[in-house]
Amino acid sequence: MSTEAFQDLTTLQVADDELWLQGPPHDVFERLRAECPVHWSPGIAQSPKDAGFWSVTRAEDIHTVSRDWQGFSSAQNIIITDESIPVPLVQGMFIGMDPPKHDRIKNLFQKAFTPKAIATHEPAIREITEGVMGRLEGREHADLVSDVAQPVVSRVIGEFMGLDPEDDKPWAEAINALLGFGDTTLNPKGLEALVAEDIPRMYEKCMKLVAARRENPTNDMTSVLVFADIDGDTLSDEEIFAGFVLMMAAGNDSTKATYTSTMRILMENPDQWQMLVDDPSLSASAVEEALRMFPAFAHFRRTATKDIELNGALIKAGDKVALWYPSSNRDAERYENPHQFDVHRNPEHQAFGAGGRHFCLGTALARLELKILVEETVKRFPKMTISDQPTYVVSQFSSQLKTLPVRLAG
Ligand code: HEM
Repeated sequence: MSTEAFQDLTTLQVADDELWLQGPPHDVFERLRAECPVHWSPGIAQSPKDAGFWSVTRAEDIHTVSRDWQGFSSAQNIIITDESIPVPLVQGMFIGMDPPKHDRIKNLFQKAFTPKAIATHEPAIREITEGVMGRLEGREHADLVSDVAQPVVSRVIGEFMGLDPEDDKPWAEAINALLGFGDTTLNPKGLEALVAEDIPRMYEKCMKLVAARRENPTNDMTSVLVFADIDGDTLSDEEIFAGFVLMMAAGNDSTKATYTSTMRILMENPDQWQMLVDDPSLSASAVEEALRMFPAFAHFRRTATKDIELNGALIKAGDKVALWYPSSNRDAERYENPHQFDVHRNPEHQAFGAGGRHFCLGTALARLELKILVEETVKRFPKMTISDQPTYVVSQFSSQLKTLPVRLAG
C-alpha cells in the first residue's frame, strides 16, 4: 500500500480492497486517528451499490458508540456492505437485533457460555487439539490454517452444537465463504450461488439436526434452541437456523484467525517465542496480546438512529458507522509501542467489542480454546518456523490469514 493512495482524506475509501491486500491498513488508521478520528468514506470501491460510511478509529469513541444502542442500532446490518451476507439472515441473528428482542434471545445462550460452564469443556478441547496435532507427527511441513486451526475450531464448535464430525468440513467451507465473501478463493462460486445454493443446503442440514433433537433432546446448543421458551414464545425454524449460523460463524473463523495470528507473530519474534517455550504459563497473555494486535473481526457496524455528533463529526440518522478494532487496539494513546508484540503485556483490548449489549458471548470459550491451542503447539513443536510467505483473506470483516506454512521441526 502506498502513502499516495490515501493522501486526500475527503476521497479516501477506507474499505477499498486495494488497501487490505496484506491485512488491515495500519498506516491509514494511524493517520485517521491523528487527523480525522471519525472519518467519512464516500463509498466502497468494490461494491458500488453500497452507500458511504463513517469510520470510528479511536478506542474511546468506539467505546461510546458500542454502549449507545439507542443511538447506534445493530438492527439494519452488522457489516458495512449490504450487498454481501444476506441482510434478512443477519437480522434473524441476535447480533443483528436491538433490545429488547436482542436481550431476550441472548439470554437463552448465556447459561452455556459462563466461564464455569465453559471450563467443563476443557478436557474435550484438549483431546480434540491433541488429536489434530497428533496427525502432524512425522511430517516436516504443515499449514497452520488448514491443518491445525480449522479442524480444531470446527470440531469444538461442532461438538457444542451437536454436529457429527463428518459435517465439520462442509459447514466450515460454507461459513468461510459466507464471512470471506469478497475473497474468490474462499467464495469461488460468488455471492449469488452462495445465496441460491449453499444457504438452502445449510438450512436443510440444520433442520435435519433440529428434527432429530425435537425427537431426542441432548445437552447441546441445538437442543437449547429447539426447546427455547422466551416468555412463552418459541423460536421459529428460521430463528433457530439464524441462531445456529451465528454460533457456527462466531465460533469458526474468530478463533481460527486469532490462533494463526498468534503463532505468526510469535514465530516472527523468536525472542518472544523463546519466552513462551521457557514459560508456557505466558500462553494466556500471548493470546490477549495477539487479540489486541490482530482482532479477528476488523469491524462491526452500527447505524445511527438520529443525528448525533461524535468527536467533531455530524453523523446523520441512517448513516452507517464502522467500528474499526484493528485501529483502536493500536491507539498510541492507550498502548506504548502499539505495533510491537509483547508477550508480557496482557492488555485490555476491543477485539471482543467495546462493552455494551453486543459484547462477545464467546470470550470464555475463545480464550480457553486459544490457550490450549497455543500451549499444545509450543509444547509439541518448540522449534517451529515460518517456511513460506503467509497469505491473507482479502476482507474488511473477517480479518485473518488464509495460509500459514510452517516447518514443524524448525
Ligand atoms: C477470538 C475469538 C473471538 C473474537 C475476536 C470475537 C469477537 C466478537 C466481536 C467483536 C463481537 C461484536 C461486539 C460488538 O458488536 O459490540 C462478537 C459478538 C459475538 N460473539 Fe464473538 N468473538 C470470538 C469468539 C466467539 C466464539 C467462540 C463464540 C461462540 C461460539 C462467539 C459468539 C459471539 C456472539 C453470539 C456474538 C453476538 C453477541 C451479541 O450480539 O450480543 N464469539 N464477538
